[in-house]
Amino acid sequence: MIKENTYSDATGLELKEREFHQISQLAHERFGLELKPGKEALVAARLGKRLRQRGFRSFDEYYQHVLSDSTGDALIELIDSLTTNHTSFLRERSHFEFLARAVVEEFGDVRKLEIWSAACSSGEEPYSIGMCVSDVFSKPGAKNREVRILATDISTRVLAKARRGVYPAERFQELSEAWRRAYLLKGDGDCRGYYKIKPELARLVEFERLNLIEPFSQHRLFHVIFCRNVMMYFDKATQQDIVQRLSACLEPGGYLFVGHSESLTGVSHDLQYVRPATHRKEKRGGRSRVWS
Ligand SMILES: C[S@@+](CC[C@H](N)C(=O)[O-])C[C@H]1O[C@@H](n2cnc3c(N)ncnc32)[C@H](O)[C@@H]1O
Repeated sequence: MIKENTYSDATGLELKEREFHQISQLAHERFGLELKPGKEALVAARLGKRLRQRGFRSFDEYYQHVLSDSTGDALIELIDSLTTNHTSFLRERSHFEFLARAVVEEFGDVRKLEIWSAACSSGEEPYSIGMCVSDVFSKPGAKNREVRILATDISTRVLAKARRGVYPAERFQELSEAWRRAYLLKGDGDCRGYYKIKPELARLVEFERLNLIEPFSQHRLFHVIFCRNVMMYFDKATQQDIVQRLSACLEPGGYLFVGHSESLTGVSHDLQYVRPATHRKEKRGGRSRVWS
């Protein structure tokens, strides 16, 4: 009899090839996640931890539990274990510098700016957008303008953290002292060592759960969409579908930012390349002014 290939995590829990196939198929169907052969050890390590926490004896038992859980929570846990939620304030700072210039030079006449942080993780990205735009709006002589930020992610766990808006002090290393004073409340007593996002900033951000591979339900158009460090989880066909639907949500002249380690090469879309990780939808009635 031919023995099936298996992969073990650090504790010896075995992931059979068939189980890997089932899990990767489910992750692809529900989340567009691409788990190619070669990722078995990663799946065994990441899900193995979850199995032990929940007391399952095999990957098959865990898989059956995910399938039968009608709340959808087990599926969210699965995706949380297989992807990373890594993020930080002002991550890939050049996008924020670009945004600050665009708010003045490209969208100077827009009274209400609409920005979407898709795959926002625990909130550092949308709050950074809020700080950056508020900073521009508060400059002497600036017009009276508003910004509304939609922040979405598939994971209810990270969204709960994001809504809370409380982070350890070391998470704010990238922020200047002036921004800390303007946008954060310092914790005391039990909250010592933590900062909370001020209500004036938190009010600008609206959090919602959204799976990027499913049809988008919101109907408004955005001046800027951040969809960073999530594309890498999807295969080319899924990336293409997502980029085309994101493009349909952009105002003419609006920008799409992807992560700097991601590229839209091989993905067909109607956006103009502006500079690495930055694309733009054509303006009505002609070419956009493109600068980098
Ligand atoms: C590495 S974080 C990126 C966070 C932030 N955009 C940044 O660049 O710092 C990736 C996020 O994508 C989310 N994600 C993974 N698959 C998703 C999907 N199908 N739809 C929406 N979000 C997804 C994960 O939950 C995670 O929070």
